[in-house]
Amino acid sequence: MSEPKEPRLPPRERVFSGMRPTGRLHLGHLLGALPNWVRLQEDYDCFYCVADLHALTTRFDNVAGMKADGVEMVADWIAVGIDPERSVIFRQSDVREHSELALLLGMLVPVSWLTRVPSYKEQISELGEHIATFGFLGYPVLQTADIILYKAGRVPVGEDQVSHLELAREIVRRFNGLYGPVFPEPRAILTETPRLQGLDGRKMSKSYGNTIDLADDAETVRKKVMSMYTDPARKTLRDAGHPEACNVFSYHSFFEAPPAELDEIDRACRAAAIGCTECKGRLADRVVGMLEPIQKRRSRLMTEPGRIEAILEDGRQRAQKVASEVLGEACEAIGI
Ligand code: TRP
Ligand code: SF4
Repeated sequence: MSEPKEPRLPPRERVFSGMRPTGRLHLGHLLGALPNWVRLQEDYDCFYCVADLHALTTRFDNVAGMKADGVEMVADWIAVGIDPERSVIFRQSDVREHSELALLLGMLVPVSWLTRVPSYKEQISELGEHIATFGFLGYPVLQTADIILYKAGRVPVGEDQVSHLELAREIVRRFNGLYGPVFPEPRAILTETPRLQGLDGRKMSKSYGNTIDLADDAETVRKKVMSMYTDPARKTLRDAGHPEACNVFSYHSFFEAPPAELDEIDRACRAAAIGCTECKGRLADRVVGMLEPIQKRRSRLMTEPGRIEAILEDGRQRAQKVASEVLGEACEAIGI
């Protein structure tokens, strides 16, 4: 019998993706990763992972609340339409195989491959030298383990993760070259993320405190929208506005104001015929309306005590079944 040339693949192609548990998700996520994750459920078996080990790489000295952050995040996933029956939703640290495969992959990954990943130096200069740990250097190795432990062929990610995916493919080629074709090379599905600015015009990020969260109630949304920066040239109601320079206007457009209304706001703003307060009021209505069905689902979930934990436990079992098989294959190929 000749040696197989191709990895053994699952019957239906798999998708893997993860997010570090940062707590409640915000509107940026609603325009970015999440709709893609929801859509992919139609055509793939999806594995969506709370990447708490990855969070530890930069949060090892600030672990309080990490479990709760994961639970909040999963509640948001489900509220926007990730279906825990169809997709496997689980916590990375619950499936120990991730750590073991990462260790094995670490044996064959040259350190120089890791130090040249752009995000390595970027993150250190942003967050400080203290995150330059062994674990942080190995971030992309762990991410590779995540993906290939399920033989996932497709990985929805944002632009910032593309270099990690390239590295994952290199690691797979090296593994397969050394030990035989166990893993398929994962391919990225690039998520186009419109750059949604935060309330203050900087990038929307929890660490800047400038987010509108999916879980914000109507009153909070209204207050936050009213605090948004607008066209700086428009000091009074009588000044003509410039919608192209106004964050409120981009929100109207990102959150799908009908073209006719967008046009009307554009013209009224330029003619100083609409005030910013009214314009923001309309935006608040739009955002509140959009969040309403999400929040209905979310509060239903959260009123059942232990519901999210039960979903994560079910996910752990389903993930582990696959992970232990694939890890077994990898160990057999290595000969350990
Ligand atoms: N590193 C990813 C991020 O910060 C999260 C992540 C962990 C991930 N494991 C993954 C993404 C596997 C895709 C596939 O966004
Ligand atoms: Fe921005 Fe609307 Fe004010 Fe024009 S009217 S500057 S679009 S908030």
